[in-house]
Amino acid sequence: MSERLKTITPAKGWSPDSWQHKEASQQATYPDELDLERTLRRLSNMPPLVTSWEINALKEQIAEAQAGRRFVLQGGDCAELFDECVPSIIANRLKVLLQMSLVMLHGMEMPVLRIGRFAGQYAKPRSSDTETRDGVTLPSYRGDLVNSPEFTESARRPDPSRLIQAHSCSAMSMNFVRGLIDGGFADLHHPEYWDLGWVEHSPLADEFHRIADSIGHSVRFVETVTGRTPGSLKRVDFYTSHEALHLGFEQALTRQVPRQWGWFNLSTHFPWIGMRTANLDGAHVEMLRGIRNPVGIKIGPAMTRSWLKDLIRTLNPDNEAGRLVLIHRMGASQVADKLPPLIEAVRETGSPVLWVCDPMHGNTESTSGGVKTRRFANIVSEVEQSFEVHARCGSRLGGVHLELTGENVTECIGGARALDEEDLKRAYKTTVDPRLNYEQALELSMRVVQKHRSLT
Ligand code: PEP
Ligand code: CO
Repeated sequence: MSERLKTITPAKGWSPDSWQHKEASQQATYPDELDLERTLRRLSNMPPLVTSWEINALKEQIAEAQAGRRFVLQGGDCAELFDECVPSIIANRLKVLLQMSLVMLHGMEMPVLRIGRFAGQYAKPRSSDTETRDGVTLPSYRGDLVNSPEFTESARRPDPSRLIQAHSCSAMSMNFVRGLIDGGFADLHHPEYWDLGWVEHSPLADEFHRIADSIGHSVRFVETVTGRTPGSLKRVDFYTSHEALHLGFEQALTRQVPRQWGWFNLSTHFPWIGMRTANLDGAHVEMLRGIRNPVGIKIGPAMTRSWLKDLIRTLNPDNEAGRLVLIHRMGASQVADKLPPLIEAVRETGSPVLWVCDPMHGNTESTSGGVKTRRFANIVSEVEQSFEVHARCGSRLGGVHLELTGENVTECIGGARALDEEDLKRAYKTTVDPRLNYEQALELSMRVVQKHRSLT
Protein backbone atom coordinates (compact mmCIF):
# COMPACT_ATOMS: atom_id res chain seq x y z
CA MET A 1 0.00 0.00 0.00
CA SER A 2 1.41 3.44 -0.89
CA GLU A 3 2.30 5.95 1.84
CA ARG A 4 -0.61 8.16 0.84
CA LEU A 5 -3.18 5.38 1.13
CA LYS A 6 -2.11 4.29 4.60
CA THR A 7 -4.20 7.10 6.05
CA ILE A 8 -7.35 6.09 4.13
CA THR A 9 -9.63 3.62 5.88
CA PRO A 10 -11.83 1.20 3.90
CA ALA A 11 -15.50 2.21 4.03
CA LYS A 12 -17.03 0.14 6.83
CA GLY A 13 -19.76 -2.31 5.81
CA TRP A 14 -19.53 -1.25 2.18
CA SER A 15 -19.61 -3.54 -0.85
CA PRO A 16 -20.47 -2.78 -4.50
CA ASP A 17 -24.03 -4.03 -3.81
CA SER A 18 -24.53 -2.58 -0.31
CA TRP A 19 -26.61 0.22 -1.89
CA GLN A 20 -29.28 -2.40 -2.53
CA HIS A 21 -30.20 -2.35 1.17
CA LYS A 22 -30.95 1.37 1.00
CA GLU A 23 -33.71 3.37 -0.59
CA ALA A 24 -32.82 4.10 -4.23
CA SER A 25 -34.64 7.08 -5.72
CA GLN A 26 -34.81 7.93 -9.44
CA GLN A 27 -34.57 4.28 -10.58
CA ALA A 28 -36.49 2.98 -13.58
CA THR A 29 -38.98 0.14 -13.22
CA TYR A 30 -38.06 -2.53 -15.75
CA PRO A 31 -40.92 -4.73 -16.94
CA ASP A 32 -38.60 -7.74 -17.25
CA GLU A 33 -36.41 -8.02 -14.12
CA LEU A 34 -34.70 -11.20 -15.28
CA ASP A 35 -33.63 -9.56 -18.51
CA LEU A 36 -32.23 -6.65 -16.47
CA GLU A 37 -30.25 -9.00 -14.21
CA ARG A 38 -28.87 -10.96 -17.19
CA THR A 39 -27.81 -7.74 -18.88
CA LEU A 40 -26.13 -6.34 -15.76
CA ARG A 41 -24.21 -9.62 -15.35
CA ARG A 42 -23.03 -9.32 -18.94
CA LEU A 43 -22.04 -5.71 -18.37
CA SER A 44 -20.04 -6.61 -15.28
CA ASN A 45 -17.78 -8.79 -17.47
CA MET A 46 -17.21 -6.14 -20.12
CA PRO A 47 -14.00 -4.07 -20.25
CA PRO A 48 -13.99 -0.93 -18.14
CA LEU A 49 -14.25 2.51 -19.74
CA VAL A 50 -11.45 4.16 -17.77
CA THR A 51 -8.52 2.97 -15.67
CA SER A 52 -7.61 3.30 -12.01
CA TRP A 53 -4.35 5.09 -12.95
CA GLU A 54 -6.31 7.80 -14.72
CA ILE A 55 -8.68 8.11 -11.76
CA ASN A 56 -5.77 8.50 -9.35
CA ALA A 57 -4.13 11.07 -11.65
CA LEU A 58 -7.38 13.06 -11.75
CA LYS A 59 -7.63 12.93 -7.98
CA GLU A 60 -4.16 14.41 -7.69
CA GLN A 61 -5.06 17.18 -10.11
CA ILE A 62 -8.26 17.94 -8.19
CA ALA A 63 -6.12 18.15 -5.04
CA GLU A 64 -3.97 20.73 -6.83
CA ALA A 65 -7.10 22.64 -7.83
CA GLN A 66 -8.20 22.55 -4.18
CA ALA A 67 -4.88 24.17 -3.34
CA GLY A 68 -5.52 26.92 -5.92
CA ARG A 69 -3.02 25.72 -8.49
CA ARG A 70 -5.50 24.62 -11.19
CA PHE A 71 -8.93 25.69 -12.44
CA VAL A 72 -11.55 23.14 -13.50
CA LEU A 73 -13.59 23.37 -16.68
CA GLN A 74 -16.30 20.70 -16.63
CA GLY A 75 -18.71 20.75 -19.54
CA GLY A 76 -20.77 18.96 -22.12
CA ASP A 77 -24.34 17.96 -22.82
CA CYS A 78 -27.15 17.86 -20.31
CA ALA A 79 -28.08 14.47 -21.76
CA GLU A 80 -26.05 12.65 -24.38
CA LEU A 81 -28.01 10.78 -27.04
CA PHE A 82 -27.03 7.51 -28.74
CA ASP A 83 -27.94 9.12 -32.07
CA GLU A 84 -25.39 11.84 -31.38
CA CYS A 85 -22.53 9.40 -30.89
CA VAL A 86 -21.15 10.59 -34.23
CA PRO A 87 -17.67 11.96 -35.01
CA SER A 88 -18.63 15.55 -35.84
CA ILE A 89 -20.59 16.12 -32.65
CA ILE A 90 -17.92 14.52 -30.46
CA ALA A 91 -15.10 16.46 -32.14
CA ASN A 92 -16.98 19.78 -32.06
CA ARG A 93 -17.73 19.44 -28.36
CA LEU A 94 -14.08 18.67 -27.73
CA LYS A 95 -13.03 21.68 -29.83
CA VAL A 96 -15.20 24.08 -27.86
CA LEU A 97 -13.91 22.75 -24.55
CA LEU A 98 -10.30 22.97 -25.77
CA GLN A 99 -10.79 26.54 -27.01
CA MET A 100 -12.39 27.58 -23.74
CA SER A 101 -9.62 25.96 -21.72
CA LEU A 102 -6.98 27.76 -23.78
CA VAL A 103 -8.69 31.12 -23.20
CA MET A 104 -8.82 30.31 -19.49
CA LEU A 105 -5.26 29.09 -19.02
CA HIS A 106 -3.96 32.09 -20.98
CA GLY A 107 -5.97 34.61 -18.98
CA MET A 108 -5.79 32.99 -15.57
CA GLU A 109 -2.17 31.93 -15.93
CA MET A 110 -2.69 28.50 -14.45
CA PRO A 111 -3.33 25.00 -15.82
CA VAL A 112 -6.93 24.15 -16.60
CA LEU A 113 -8.24 20.71 -15.67
CA ARG A 114 -10.62 19.59 -18.42
CA ILE A 115 -13.46 17.27 -17.50
CA GLY A 116 -16.06 16.38 -20.13
CA ARG A 117 -19.68 15.82 -19.23
CA PHE A 118 -19.63 13.06 -21.80
CA ALA A 119 -18.86 9.45 -22.70
CA GLY A 120 -21.55 8.26 -20.29
CA GLN A 121 -23.91 11.16 -19.50
CA TYR A 122 -26.93 9.04 -20.45
CA ALA A 123 -29.13 8.98 -17.32
CA LYS A 124 -31.40 11.82 -16.18
CA PRO A 125 -33.21 12.46 -12.89
CA ARG A 126 -36.87 13.45 -13.41
CA SER A 127 -39.30 15.33 -11.21
CA SER A 128 -42.02 12.74 -11.87
CA ASP A 129 -42.00 9.00 -12.66
CA THR A 130 -44.66 9.51 -15.33
CA GLU A 131 -45.67 12.04 -17.94
CA THR A 132 -49.25 12.64 -19.08
CA ARG A 133 -50.20 14.08 -22.48
CA ASP A 134 -53.79 14.35 -23.72
CA GLY A 135 -54.98 11.91 -21.07
CA VAL A 136 -52.28 9.32 -21.86
CA THR A 137 -49.80 8.51 -19.07
CA LEU A 138 -46.42 6.91 -19.82
CA PRO A 139 -43.13 6.49 -17.93
CA SER A 140 -40.96 9.65 -18.01
CA TYR A 141 -37.93 9.75 -20.29
CA ARG A 142 -34.97 8.96 -18.01
CA GLY A 143 -32.17 9.34 -20.53
CA ASP A 144 -31.01 7.09 -23.36
CA LEU A 145 -29.54 4.67 -20.80
CA VAL A 146 -33.11 3.71 -19.84
CA ASN A 147 -35.63 4.57 -22.57
CA SER A 148 -36.29 6.79 -25.56
CA PRO A 149 -37.81 10.32 -25.57
CA GLU A 150 -40.66 9.76 -28.10
CA PHE A 151 -44.06 9.72 -26.43
CA THR A 152 -45.11 6.15 -27.28
CA GLU A 153 -45.53 3.14 -25.08
CA SER A 154 -42.72 1.16 -26.69
CA ALA A 155 -40.26 4.08 -26.71
CA ARG A 156 -40.82 4.84 -23.03
CA ARG A 157 -40.56 1.21 -21.87
CA PRO A 158 -37.27 0.77 -19.92
CA ASP A 159 -35.09 -1.53 -22.02
CA PRO A 160 -32.02 -3.29 -20.50
CA SER A 161 -30.29 -3.60 -23.89
CA ARG A 162 -29.77 0.16 -23.68
CA LEU A 163 -27.27 -0.44 -20.85
CA ILE A 164 -25.04 -2.32 -23.27
CA GLN A 165 -25.57 0.32 -25.95
CA ALA A 166 -24.60 3.06 -23.47
CA HIS A 167 -21.42 1.17 -22.61
CA SER A 168 -20.60 0.85 -26.34
CA CYS A 169 -21.33 4.51 -27.13
CA SER A 170 -19.28 5.64 -24.13
CA ALA A 171 -16.39 3.41 -25.23
CA MET A 172 -16.59 4.70 -28.82
CA SER A 173 -16.68 8.33 -27.65
CA MET A 174 -13.75 7.77 -25.30
CA ASN A 175 -11.79 5.95 -27.96
CA PHE A 176 -12.27 8.79 -30.43
CA VAL A 177 -11.42 11.50 -27.88
CA ARG A 178 -8.30 9.63 -26.74
CA GLY A 179 -7.26 9.11 -30.38
CA LEU A 180 -7.72 12.78 -31.25
CA ILE A 181 -5.79 13.93 -28.21
CA ASP A 182 -2.94 11.46 -28.57
CA GLY A 183 -2.76 12.01 -32.31
CA GLY A 184 -1.89 15.69 -32.05
CA PHE A 185 -5.33 17.30 -32.26
CA ALA A 186 -4.61 19.01 -28.94
CA ASP A 187 -1.08 20.06 -29.89
CA LEU A 188 -0.66 23.66 -28.77
CA HIS A 189 1.32 24.35 -31.95
CA HIS A 190 -1.84 23.83 -33.97
CA PRO A 191 -4.86 25.39 -32.32
CA GLU A 192 -6.25 25.96 -35.82
CA TYR A 193 -7.34 22.30 -35.71
CA TRP A 194 -9.87 23.37 -33.12
CA ASP A 195 -11.81 25.71 -35.38
CA LEU A 196 -15.41 24.77 -35.99
CA GLY A 197 -16.31 24.57 -39.65
CA TRP A 198 -19.59 26.43 -39.31
CA VAL A 199 -18.30 29.41 -37.35
CA GLU A 200 -17.65 32.21 -39.81
CA HIS A 201 -16.30 35.64 -38.95
CA SER A 202 -17.33 35.46 -35.35
CA PRO A 203 -15.66 38.30 -33.42
CA LEU A 204 -15.15 35.83 -30.60
CA ALA A 205 -13.38 33.40 -32.91
CA ASP A 206 -11.08 36.30 -33.87
CA GLU A 207 -10.39 36.97 -30.22
CA PHE A 208 -9.68 33.27 -29.74
CA HIS A 209 -7.20 33.34 -32.63
CA ARG A 210 -5.37 36.28 -31.04
CA ILE A 211 -5.04 34.30 -27.81
CA ALA A 212 -3.96 31.17 -29.68
CA ASP A 213 -1.31 33.18 -31.60
CA SER A 214 0.02 34.61 -28.37
CA ILE A 215 0.29 31.11 -26.89
CA GLY A 216 1.93 29.89 -30.11
CA HIS A 217 4.61 32.59 -29.74
CA SER A 218 5.27 31.60 -26.14
CA VAL A 219 5.51 27.92 -27.09
CA ARG A 220 8.02 28.65 -29.84
CA PHE A 221 9.96 30.94 -27.52
CA VAL A 222 10.30 28.17 -24.89
CA GLU A 223 11.39 25.72 -27.59
CA THR A 224 13.99 28.12 -28.94
CA VAL A 225 15.39 28.89 -25.52
CA THR A 226 15.43 25.32 -24.20
CA GLY A 227 16.07 23.57 -27.51
CA ARG A 228 13.32 21.04 -26.88
CA THR A 229 9.55 20.61 -26.95
CA PRO A 230 8.04 19.83 -23.56
CA GLY A 231 5.72 16.82 -23.97
CA SER A 232 2.91 18.65 -22.23
CA LEU A 233 2.65 21.08 -25.15
CA LYS A 234 1.82 18.25 -27.52
CA ARG A 235 -1.03 16.72 -25.62
CA VAL A 236 -3.54 17.67 -22.97
CA ASP A 237 -5.33 15.61 -20.37
CA PHE A 238 -9.01 15.04 -20.67
CA TYR A 239 -11.24 13.30 -18.14
CA THR A 240 -14.87 12.16 -18.24
CA SER A 241 -17.73 12.58 -15.80
CA HIS A 242 -21.40 11.72 -15.56
CA GLU A 243 -24.20 11.70 -13.02
CA ALA A 244 -24.04 8.38 -11.16
CA LEU A 245 -27.76 7.75 -11.25
CA HIS A 246 -28.51 4.24 -12.51
CA LEU A 247 -27.09 2.18 -9.68
CA GLY A 248 -27.23 -1.19 -11.44
CA PHE A 249 -25.10 0.24 -14.25
CA GLU A 250 -22.66 1.90 -11.83
CA GLN A 251 -22.33 -1.31 -9.81
CA ALA A 252 -21.57 -3.39 -12.90
CA LEU A 253 -18.58 -1.16 -13.66
CA THR A 254 -17.34 -0.92 -10.06
CA ARG A 255 -14.34 -3.21 -9.84
CA GLN A 256 -11.19 -4.12 -8.00
CA VAL A 257 -7.99 -3.71 -9.91
CA PRO A 258 -4.83 -5.84 -9.59
CA ARG A 259 -2.19 -4.26 -7.35
CA GLN A 260 -4.43 -1.34 -6.39
CA TRP A 261 -6.12 -0.95 -3.06
CA GLY A 262 -9.90 -0.48 -2.91
CA TRP A 263 -12.73 -0.34 -5.42
CA PHE A 264 -12.99 1.93 -8.46
CA ASN A 265 -16.02 2.95 -10.48
CA LEU A 266 -14.49 2.34 -13.90
CA SER A 267 -17.46 3.71 -15.89
CA THR A 268 -16.08 7.25 -15.56
CA HIS A 269 -13.27 9.17 -13.91
CA PHE A 270 -15.54 11.47 -11.96
CA PRO A 271 -19.11 10.49 -10.97
CA TRP A 272 -21.36 13.05 -9.31
CA ILE A 273 -24.76 12.94 -7.65
CA GLY A 274 -27.50 15.58 -7.68
CA MET A 275 -29.51 16.72 -4.67
CA ARG A 276 -32.45 14.53 -5.68
CA THR A 277 -30.28 11.52 -4.83
CA ALA A 278 -28.12 12.98 -2.05
CA ASN A 279 -30.15 11.59 0.88
CA LEU A 280 -27.70 10.70 3.59
CA ASP A 281 -29.31 7.28 4.07
CA GLY A 282 -30.00 6.77 0.39
CA ALA A 283 -28.53 4.26 -2.04
CA HIS A 284 -26.59 6.79 -4.14
CA VAL A 285 -24.57 8.14 -1.21
CA GLU A 286 -23.94 4.53 -0.16
CA MET A 287 -22.65 3.68 -3.67
CA LEU A 288 -20.25 6.64 -3.76
CA ARG A 289 -19.06 6.10 -0.18
CA GLY A 290 -16.96 3.06 -0.98
CA ILE A 291 -15.28 3.94 -4.27
CA ARG A 292 -11.85 5.49 -4.69
CA ASN A 293 -12.84 7.96 -7.45
CA PRO A 294 -13.10 11.66 -6.79
CA VAL A 295 -16.83 12.37 -6.39
CA GLY A 296 -19.04 15.42 -6.88
CA ILE A 297 -22.17 16.60 -5.08
CA LYS A 298 -24.50 19.14 -6.67
CA ILE A 299 -25.73 21.68 -4.15
CA GLY A 300 -28.92 23.68 -4.63
CA PRO A 301 -30.66 26.33 -2.52
CA ALA A 302 -32.38 23.67 -0.36
CA MET A 303 -29.06 22.34 0.98
CA THR A 304 -28.62 22.85 4.72
CA ARG A 305 -25.47 23.24 6.74
CA SER A 306 -25.98 20.03 8.70
CA TRP A 307 -26.92 17.96 5.64
CA LEU A 308 -23.79 19.11 3.86
CA LYS A 309 -21.57 18.43 6.85
CA ASP A 310 -23.00 14.92 7.19
CA LEU A 311 -22.46 14.28 3.49
CA ILE A 312 -18.85 15.39 3.76
CA ARG A 313 -18.22 13.22 6.82
CA THR A 314 -19.78 10.23 5.05
CA LEU A 315 -18.08 10.69 1.70
CA ASN A 316 -14.71 11.92 2.91
CA PRO A 317 -14.22 10.65 6.47
CA ASP A 318 -10.42 10.80 6.22
CA ASN A 319 -10.31 14.35 4.81
CA GLU A 320 -8.53 13.05 1.76
CA ALA A 321 -7.29 15.69 -0.69
CA GLY A 322 -8.74 15.49 -4.21
CA ARG A 323 -11.74 13.38 -3.16
CA LEU A 324 -14.61 15.90 -2.96
CA VAL A 325 -15.97 18.44 -5.40
CA LEU A 326 -18.94 20.58 -4.37
CA ILE A 327 -20.83 21.89 -7.38
CA HIS A 328 -23.17 24.71 -6.33
CA ARG A 329 -26.13 25.61 -8.54
CA MET A 330 -28.10 28.21 -6.63
CA GLY A 331 -29.33 30.54 -9.36
CA ALA A 332 -28.23 34.13 -9.87
CA SER A 333 -30.85 35.46 -7.47
CA GLN A 334 -29.95 33.15 -4.57
CA VAL A 335 -26.22 32.47 -4.67
CA ALA A 336 -25.23 35.53 -2.61
CA ASP A 337 -27.54 34.49 0.26
CA LYS A 338 -27.30 30.72 0.19
CA LEU A 339 -23.61 30.12 -0.38
CA PRO A 340 -21.84 31.87 2.55
CA PRO A 341 -23.31 29.71 5.37
CA LEU A 342 -22.43 26.56 3.41
CA ILE A 343 -18.86 27.73 2.88
CA GLU A 344 -18.59 28.24 6.62
CA ALA A 345 -20.12 24.81 7.36
CA VAL A 346 -17.66 23.10 5.03
CA ARG A 347 -14.75 24.87 6.66
CA GLU A 348 -15.89 23.51 10.04
CA THR A 349 -15.53 19.93 8.78
CA GLY A 350 -11.82 20.35 8.03
CA SER A 351 -12.26 18.46 4.76
CA PRO A 352 -10.55 19.88 1.70
CA VAL A 353 -13.11 20.45 -1.08
CA LEU A 354 -13.07 21.95 -4.53
CA TRP A 355 -15.83 24.50 -5.06
CA VAL A 356 -17.24 24.57 -8.58
CA CYS A 357 -20.08 26.77 -9.86
CA ASP A 358 -22.77 25.28 -12.10
CA PRO A 359 -24.51 28.47 -13.32
CA MET A 360 -26.93 26.52 -15.51
CA HIS A 361 -29.34 24.53 -13.35
CA GLY A 362 -30.44 27.31 -10.99
CA ASN A 363 -31.22 29.61 -13.92
CA THR A 364 -33.65 27.55 -15.98
CA GLU A 365 -36.91 29.30 -16.88
CA SER A 366 -39.76 29.05 -19.37
CA THR A 367 -40.55 31.68 -22.00
CA SER A 368 -44.09 33.00 -22.33
CA GLY A 369 -44.43 30.43 -25.15
CA GLY A 370 -43.49 27.61 -22.74
CA VAL A 371 -39.96 26.97 -24.06
CA LYS A 372 -37.35 25.96 -21.48
CA THR A 373 -34.40 28.37 -21.66
CA ARG A 374 -31.67 30.12 -19.70
CA ARG A 375 -30.56 33.75 -19.92
CA PHE A 376 -26.87 34.25 -20.65
CA ALA A 377 -26.88 37.31 -18.38
CA ASN A 378 -28.05 35.21 -15.41
CA ILE A 379 -25.45 32.54 -16.15
CA VAL A 380 -22.65 35.14 -16.19
CA SER A 381 -24.06 36.82 -13.11
CA GLU A 382 -24.07 33.59 -11.09
CA VAL A 383 -20.45 32.88 -12.02
CA GLU A 384 -19.36 36.44 -11.20
CA GLN A 385 -21.21 36.48 -7.90
CA SER A 386 -19.75 33.09 -7.01
CA PHE A 387 -16.21 34.38 -7.49
CA GLU A 388 -17.05 37.34 -5.24
CA VAL A 389 -18.80 35.33 -2.53
CA HIS A 390 -15.93 32.87 -2.25
CA ALA A 391 -13.37 35.68 -2.13
CA ARG A 392 -15.40 37.48 0.56
CA CYS A 393 -15.67 34.31 2.65
CA GLY A 394 -11.95 33.55 2.42
CA SER A 395 -12.65 30.63 0.10
CA ARG A 396 -11.91 30.13 -3.60
CA LEU A 397 -14.01 29.29 -6.63
CA GLY A 398 -12.04 26.52 -8.32
CA GLY A 399 -14.03 25.76 -11.45
CA VAL A 400 -17.17 25.96 -13.57
CA HIS A 401 -19.62 23.23 -14.63
CA LEU A 402 -21.46 24.00 -17.87
CA GLU A 403 -23.97 22.56 -20.33
CA LEU A 404 -22.75 23.36 -23.80
CA THR A 405 -22.40 22.01 -27.30
CA GLY A 406 -20.22 22.62 -30.33
CA GLU A 407 -23.34 22.66 -32.53
CA ASN A 408 -24.99 25.82 -33.82
CA VAL A 409 -27.97 25.71 -31.47
CA THR A 410 -30.21 28.48 -30.15
CA GLU A 411 -31.33 27.29 -26.73
CA CYS A 412 -30.11 30.00 -24.31
CA ILE A 413 -31.17 33.66 -24.64
CA GLY A 414 -28.61 36.49 -24.89
CA GLY A 415 -24.85 36.52 -25.39
CA ALA A 416 -22.84 38.46 -27.98
CA ARG A 417 -25.43 37.82 -30.71
CA ALA A 418 -28.24 38.86 -28.35
CA LEU A 419 -30.38 35.80 -29.11
CA ASP A 420 -34.03 36.42 -28.21
CA GLU A 421 -37.16 34.31 -27.79
CA GLU A 422 -37.77 34.31 -31.55
CA ASP A 423 -34.28 32.85 -32.16
CA LEU A 424 -35.08 29.88 -29.95
CA LYS A 425 -37.36 28.57 -32.72
CA ARG A 426 -34.45 28.39 -35.17
CA ALA A 427 -32.24 25.64 -33.74
CA TYR A 428 -33.62 24.33 -30.48
CA LYS A 429 -32.40 20.72 -30.32
CA THR A 430 -31.97 19.67 -26.71
CA THR A 431 -34.18 16.91 -25.30
CA VAL A 432 -33.63 18.03 -21.72
CA ASP A 433 -31.87 21.30 -20.71
CA PRO A 434 -30.89 24.34 -22.86
CA ARG A 435 -27.17 24.48 -23.65
CA LEU A 436 -24.73 27.28 -24.44
CA ASN A 437 -23.76 27.36 -28.11
CA TYR A 438 -20.19 27.93 -29.32
CA GLU A 439 -20.19 31.71 -29.11
CA GLN A 440 -21.95 31.80 -25.76
CA ALA A 441 -19.53 29.21 -24.35
CA LEU A 442 -16.46 31.06 -25.60
CA GLU A 443 -17.81 34.37 -24.36
CA LEU A 444 -18.46 32.84 -20.96
CA SER A 445 -14.86 31.62 -20.73
CA MET A 446 -13.71 35.20 -21.44
CA ARG A 447 -16.01 36.56 -18.73
CA VAL A 448 -14.66 33.96 -16.27
CA VAL A 449 -11.13 35.16 -17.01
CA GLN A 450 -12.08 38.83 -16.58
CA LYS A 451 -13.70 38.21 -13.22
CA HIS A 452 -10.87 36.03 -11.99
CA ARG A 453 -8.31 38.67 -12.97
CA SER A 454 -10.27 41.42 -11.26
CA LEU A 455 -9.99 39.56 -7.97
CA THR A 456 -6.34 38.55 -8.07
C1 PEP B 1 -27.83 18.08 -14.51
O1 PEP B 1 -26.66 18.29 -14.18
O2 PEP B 1 -28.20 17.89 -15.69
C2 PEP B 1 -28.87 18.12 -13.45
C3 PEP B 1 -30.01 17.47 -13.57
O3 PEP B 1 -28.50 18.91 -12.42
P1 PEP B 1 -29.15 19.09 -10.98
O4 PEP B 1 -29.23 17.70 -10.38
O5 PEP B 1 -28.16 19.97 -10.27
O6 PEP B 1 -30.48 19.73 -11.15
CO1 CO C 1 -29.05 19.53 -17.14
